[in-house]
Amino acid sequence: MARLKCKFCGKPAIERLKQYRLSLCENCFVSFYERQVERTLKRYKVVRKGERVLACVSGGKDSSAMLAALKKLSKNLDFSVEALHIDLGIKKDDYSKKSLEVAEKVCRMLDVELSIVDVSEYGVSIESFGRKKCAACGTVKRYVMNRFARENGFDCVSTGHSSDDIVAFFFRNWLSGNFDWSTKFLPRTEGFDKVVTRIRPLYFLSERENALYCVCSKIPFLSDSCPYSPDDEWKEIVYEIERRKPGFRRQFVTNLVKYLKENSEEKRGEFKYCKLCGEVTTSDVCAFCRLREKSGKRKKRDVP
Ligand code: AMP
Ligand code: FES
Ligand code: ZN
Repeated sequence: MARLKCKFCGKPAIERLKQYRLSLCENCFVSFYERQVERTLKRYKVVRKGERVLACVSGGKDSSAMLAALKKLSKNLDFSVEALHIDLGIKKDDYSKKSLEVAEKVCRMLDVELSIVDVSEYGVSIESFGRKKCAACGTVKRYVMNRFARENGFDCVSTGHSSDDIVAFFFRNWLSGNFDWSTKFLPRTEGFDKVVTRIRPLYFLSERENALYCVCSKIPFLSDSCPYSPDDEWKEIVYEIERRKPGFRRQFVTNLVKYLKENSEEKRGEFKYCKLCGEVTTSDVCAFCRLREKSGKRKKRDVP
């Protein structure tokens, strides 16, 4: 088979991007990827001028790509970016140690200031949770990201969620009849009260594109996944549909955001303040504090 040539410059291509019907070389892919992120930021007003963005980096491909692209675009679009890594204290397979090392390396390379929060400071231990460690860990991460961002004066929390994550999340929620998530899953979700604005700059990009961006721009990332993460069947289904219908994922999220913007009102039901930590919740005690109680650790960071 003849070697594919880059559509833009004619050099040997590294990948055929079926969903765009494009073959690109390393350099042209990097520019193409950054243009895609820039377009998302501008078209959906994801970041505003002068905002301080807290990029949450796990050490994995998606958040490493997110941080690198944000850093690259921050000057022209006039916002600033710093990073947060949450040390989950997972000893199995040295997972947290390896994640932290990669997050530090990425931030050093990109010259981004990195803060590290150890979840034990908040009185929890992921390994003390029972069977569904990963689900509990999600609650802990969201809590720490929000509280750290607010207490340190950031305007928004940025995560590396990809189009694969969004579509799988949609399927899972839609099929379980949970429609309460809708406005929470846009490229930007405005904050309120003690809740900081959330942004998802990689909303339209796939995991594959994020990994390729890291490889082409020599950004390190950890390819191990969390030793406790269960197989995500919905993700497998999304990959399979994409394989059979290239472009499905991108089209799906494009139409999803269009639909949500036109049809969903910002519904914010009643909320309360957690009687243990003071954060926003819908019950008397927030999900994080319930986990913390189960975790049975001493509380070092309590309500101010
Ligand atoms: P996950 O919940 O593992 O799918 O991760 C979703 C997003 O949360 C990632 O793209 C990161 O932006 C962020 N994230 C996950 N784990 C960490 C961590 N240990 N420290 C900081 N941010 C994280
Ligand atoms: Fe936290 Fe799996 S236990 S990512
Ligand atoms: Zn609480």
